[in-house]
Amino acid sequence: MSLVPLRPLMEASMKYGYGQGGFNVNAVAQAKAVIEVHEMFRSPAILQGADLANGFMGGRTDFMNATLEDKKIGAKNIGNAVKKYGVDSEIPIVLHLDHGRDFDSCVAAIEGGYTSVMIDGSSLPFKENIELTREVVKYAHARGVSVEGELGVLAGVEDHVFSANSTYTNPLDAVEFFQKTGVDALAISYGTMHGASKGKNVKLRKEIAVAIRECLNHLGIFGALVSHGSSTVPQYIVDEINGLGGCLSDTYGISIEELQGAIGAGINKINVDTDIRLAVTRNMKELFAKYPEKRTSASIGGIYELLETKKTAFDPRVFLPPIMDTVMYGNIPDEDVAAIVDCVERGAKEVVGTLIVKFGSYGKAPLIETVTLDEMAERYKEIDKNL
Ligand code: G3H
Ligand code: 13P
Ligand code: ZN
Repeated sequence: MSLVPLRPLMEASMKYGYGQGGFNVNAVAQAKAVIEVHEMFRSPAILQGADLANGFMGGRTDFMNATLEDKKIGAKNIGNAVKKYGVDSEIPIVLHLDHGRDFDSCVAAIEGGYTSVMIDGSSLPFKENIELTREVVKYAHARGVSVEGELGVLAGVEDHVFSANSTYTNPLDAVEFFQKTGVDALAISYGTMHGASKGKNVKLRKEIAVAIRECLNHLGIFGALVSHGSSTVPQYIVDEINGLGGCLSDTYGISIEELQGAIGAGINKINVDTDIRLAVTRNMKELFAKYPEKRTSASIGGIYELLETKKTAFDPRVFLPPIMDTVMYGNIPDEDVAAIVDCVERGAKEVVGTLIVKFGSYGKAPLIETVTLDEMAERYKEIDKNL
């Protein structure tokens, strides 16, 4: 099965009542591992590259400063990796842009082979968010590509937005947003937060999802609901990182029980990035603890240096710059680099496999309707005729 748009996966999530993970990738090895673990569990897959991940995959180690040109290159690199490992796959795979910053970033992603894009206009006033999102929907749907929007602001650091307090999504606004933009999916703010410090015992305001879902059903509007900032931040991984010399504190995730409750309340897509970052970081620290001779390796010794100097960091992008050729293209020049690639792959598989089971998407791949982008573009003409 080749790459598919997001829409059929969201239709199946609604029809069969399970949660579909959306997992962030920042390196070719992560894309490979995330595909393989979904195949193992016969789960549909959503791989997502964030706006800045495209910058990093475009060779920009200072990815916060990535230009549109960098993102274009990175989008192609991620797109090529997903095509390479997904082309003969038995499962449906979506390549989704996460937190697309502007119209041009969405276009760059689509040109790179993404089959779904998020346009994050959540920092804009409501009307401007609608206008921008609508423009992206027009462009993307004409190409059979699905679109996710965002309404409400999550606490914490978003790609380019800082907000000290959550502004929960107003269900009435959410319904109007679906009606006026034609988005396939909407990220809502209901108590989650990006990163590894989400606060102790977070209780999600699931009633926000219930209210939106009820209204959409009454109005006969299709709309998937997306839970961002949903990492569980496994305590055992944090403890292991700290046991290996890391310095992480104030780490709290969203509990599996809360996420399962959210699925029951109408959440369809659940975004996870931090958990993968943590597991990969732990694996790399463990590698250098177990094999001290690798600390001075010509190819990966630089990674050890970064792990040792940046003890509060847990984003592999901070540690991987010494092997950018491997990150961007998947080349493995020697056995030391192979050992790091193994850390990356095992880390992704450990957390993604767990969540596929907990969210209930295992075994659902055969239930997804196979729709090509061309067929989806035709369908969108009909779906969007009153927009
Ligand atoms: O939702 C945010 C994701 O974790 C992506 O993070 O913008 O640092 O790539 P990033
Ligand atoms: P986490 O930081 O909780 O993994 O959230 C990831 C996310 O929302 C990606 O869009
Ligand atoms: Zn997010």
